[in-house]
Amino acid sequence: MSATAHQSATCPFDASRDDRKSARLAAERVAPEPGAKVVTSFAAAREILRNAAIKQGGAGADLIDTGDPERVPVFYLDGEAHKRKRSELARFFTPKIIATRYRAVMENTADALLAEFRAKGQAPLDEISFALAVAVAADIVGLKNSNPVGMAARIKATLADLGGHRRNVLARLFGRLRQSYHGLEFYFRDVRPAITARRKNRQVDIISHLIDEGYSDKAILIECMTYAAAGMVTTREFIVMAAWHLFGRQDLRERFLAGDEDEQLAILQEILRLEPIAALLHRRVPEITPIASGAPIPAGSLMAIDIRAANTDEAATGPCPYALDPERAARMKVNASFLSFGDGNHRCPGAQVALAETRVFLDRLMRVPGIRLAREPTMGWCAALMSYELRDAIVVCDRL
Ligand code: HEM
Repeated sequence: MSATAHQSATCPFDASRDDRKSARLAAERVAPEPGAKVVTSFAAAREILRNAAIKQGGAGADLIDTGDPERVPVFYLDGEAHKRKRSELARFFTPKIIATRYRAVMENTADALLAEFRAKGQAPLDEISFALAVAVAADIVGLKNSNPVGMAARIKATLADLGGHRRNVLARLFGRLRQSYHGLEFYFRDVRPAITARRKNRQVDIISHLIDEGYSDKAILIECMTYAAAGMVTTREFIVMAAWHLFGRQDLRERFLAGDEDEQLAILQEILRLEPIAALLHRRVPEITPIASGAPIPAGSLMAIDIRAANTDEAATGPCPYALDPERAARMKVNASFLSFGDGNHRCPGAQVALAETRVFLDRLMRVPGIRLAREPTMGWCAALMSYELRDAIVVCDRL
């Protein structure tokens, strides 16, 4: 049997089906760091990410001085210092705190944003998604002593100061934060008041924890920007992308609305598999490293894990890797988001938060009377974060 015949025999859809929206742009724009060896197989990618001896190599990791591990964002740490920091942070990401405290923030914020939307009859989808993502991450971090609408604008402007350069994004950002007008505004209006309030009265949040750990105000500002880039921006793009898929397919939208929580999460994760926000993860291999899925990796290699390729590697996905199939993960017995949240030691601690808030928000949005996507998003590319950006989508509904 030919490969195509075999595929169409086992593929539940038309074997040529491709539901991805961001693939063409990503194919043009994804660019690994110079000299990096690109990894496209799911098995090799996962093995590398899970190997504790292999080090973080992305976003300018080689430029960050980790000499004082207590003052460096978790993203840049490796080994024991990373393990310690992740275990300190774990209490801010437990299933219990997500299902209780953060869930209440998600629901209340979504209700408030959608009430405003219904009163006006239309809204820019990326702005309401960003407002939600900011509110949830701000609760986790402890940025709650300033106006959330103003803070979202200040964070957006600070990240825009990054410009379009593609390398060393966070490293440059940190270097420049104090020279950035918006970075200073964010510091003085949002971060400093939060620190002052928590110095007097600790809360259960990351800023209170950092104060206890003796972080300087500048180090706390850097942590806050890490969460802004890692948690707020990523979730905004995910919410808009997932909404775009649901608006575009009535059968999928009906299935989403009829489904229980697990079914809804399966749909969202399958969308994220096809449309990962982070396209590449870089890793540095300090010593020659044997791997089961290929030849040993020479010492000093820089590896670029191609998440889009790994997530559509037929060996892991089964047939029709580009088709949106919410049953795929259960059938293939793999984690439903594949590598979209990374894997191994650095796997995203906010994954369950991002999925929960996206689910809570879209479940409400899709039930708004008269809801429709009046304008599809324009897709751009953020070279600095190696990620697609969805802007200017407009949703409309019956006015209250
Ligand atoms: C859809 C939304 C999100 C996506 C796609 C995403 C994706 C990722 C990925 C791929 C990594 C691994 C980076 C690497 O291995 O080099 C990561 C790490 C991280 N994420 Fe997320 N993330 C999302 C939401 C969030 C949220 C909501 C938070 C927190 C509020 C968060 C906080 C972090 C942090 C702190 C790290 C660094 C972890 C470490 O290095 O140990 N993320 N994220």
